[in-house]
Amino acid sequence: MGVRGVSRRAFVRGFAAGAAVLGGHWPGVRAAGRSGQSVTPDVALRLTAAPRRAQLRPGAPTRLWSYRASVLHGDPAAVADLAGNTYLGPVLRLRRGQRLRVDFENRLDEPSIVHWHGLIDPADMDGHPRDAVPPGGHYRYDFTIRNHAGTYWYHPHPDMRTGQQVYFGLAGLLLVSDTEEAALPLPRGEYDVPIVIQDRSFGADNQLRYLAGTGPDAEQEEPEAARESDHAGGGMGMMGGGMMGSGMMGRMGAEMMGRSSGMMGQSGGMQDAMTRMMGFFGDTILVNGQHGWRLDAATHAYRLRLVNASNARIYKLAWSDGRPMTVIATGAGLLAAPQHKPYVMLAPAQRVEVWVDFSADPVGREVRLVNQAFSGSMGMRMGGMPGLGGALGIEGAFPVATVRVARKSAERLALPDHLATVERLRPEGAVNAGRPKVFRITAGGMRWGVNGRSFEMTAHTAEETARLGTTEVWEFDNRTMMAHAMHVHQSPFQVLGRTGGAGEGVADGIVERGAWLDTVLVMPGERVRLIKRFDHYPGLFLYHCHMLEHEDAGLMRNYFVQA
Ligand code: C2O
Ligand code: CU
Repeated sequence: MGVRGVSRRAFVRGFAAGAAVLGGHWPGVRAAGRSGQSVTPDVALRLTAAPRRAQLRPGAPTRLWSYRASVLHGDPAAVADLAGNTYLGPVLRLRRGQRLRVDFENRLDEPSIVHWHGLIDPADMDGHPRDAVPPGGHYRYDFTIRNHAGTYWYHPHPDMRTGQQVYFGLAGLLLVSDTEEAALPLPRGEYDVPIVIQDRSFGADNQLRYLAGTGPDAEQEEPEAARESDHAGGGMGMMGGGMMGSGMMGRMGAEMMGRSSGMMGQSGGMQDAMTRMMGFFGDTILVNGQHGWRLDAATHAYRLRLVNASNARIYKLAWSDGRPMTVIATGAGLLAAPQHKPYVMLAPAQRVEVWVDFSADPVGREVRLVNQAFSGSMGMRMGGMPGLGGALGIEGAFPVATVRVARKSAERLALPDHLATVERLRPEGAVNAGRPKVFRITAGGMRWGVNGRSFEMTAHTAEETARLGTTEVWEFDNRTMMAHAMHVHQSPFQVLGRTGGAGEGVADGIVERGAWLDTVLVMPGERVRLIKRFDHYPGLFLYHCHMLEHEDAGLMRNYFVQA
């Protein structure tokens, strides 16, 4: 991993820019409210979202959007590029207790704002869509890292544009460490490896295929007819050829598309209308922004940070040789103790950290991280499609990444029995212990919603209000035909239980016992009950489905924490 250093000149430049902001000479900058800009941050970064071309495949470079960052002040190791040729943003490495300042600049040709997924931060630092800045605009973030050590990430969060901005490349990892984690004998350095999983579809010209009229080259879109024929043979063909033929239009039509004939006339036509509603599924798996990603490993223990940064795809991940998936952390912190699973379900935005030890493997052995077929997701319900793997043209199962044991290492690390002290949130301590607030996922008129309401920029209901310092029990109730990945901003939550849907081939891979989560998989027909403390900061925050097309189509709401 190359680390970008910070030159004295960069530091001085950053300082000057900061001074200009304080003087109000930097148009577009929103003041950071009560966050107190006079306090010196421990780490100050500049973060830019801009168009970029990258050589992702042989032939023409791919036009993308990408984050770049540099350290203006503090530890130069706070920003590190991912190895290899990638569009993903740099890895930000921060410690609990550090005060972070980020000067964000939007060099896209559309509004954007950065959200720190999973972080506990003030409402005006959280990247709410209402804070999106126009092209050329800036936003200053200034807050203290309060989370447990964990694998977090950052991505855009503008209203109705999150799906396309993430798809065309805007995302990066944000790793938090703390003293408890630092004291554990975990694999570090080259043995601590991120695996960011995304599905994409490329056209013959090496350009990414998404909805018509989106992306860095939106103005050069080819005519609709050309796109349609492309789709039929590509990833989104799943939406057309396969699924719509299997009775989907009949059922989905009644439930969602009934009164929305206007949608059909939109740019991109019928294919795009379906993708906007159901979610995007690509035909190519990228890991860390690269095709055919491979780890040349030593005979050593590894800490793999698996991140699902896909727009809508759920993965069921396992080792090809049947060794267990040894989970040591979710995205929001270490588990109390390692859990051995036959496979791990990873919904969009979820992360798990897996311990894997190759010390008993001979040099030359290859082990693959594979996606297994699973039912109970949309595919099966829609009439016999082979799970979500169908989009890849492989019957349900496909490889995600390959590890090749390439060299010997004499060093041995033992998996610790105990990892972290995980506080249990108890229902007795909730203000509504026996009466959970029920948030039912609903759909109608080509919009998703919660309890019949789609996203409104600043609105929230009485149900969507909590008092600062209290704990509540919430229930996500999914009676739709699709799985959803429900994410609640701010402090992580714990799952109390689930009833209904999960089903065979999914339940054994759900990691939530004794765990902190910020995103939870809710299968069709399932109700998931969780407990959450509304602490640290008052204000307006989001909860939503992290299948980004669902989020962009209204499956997002505010909740308000009253001081
Ligand atoms: Cu990953 Cu509301 O975000
Ligand atoms: Cu959803």
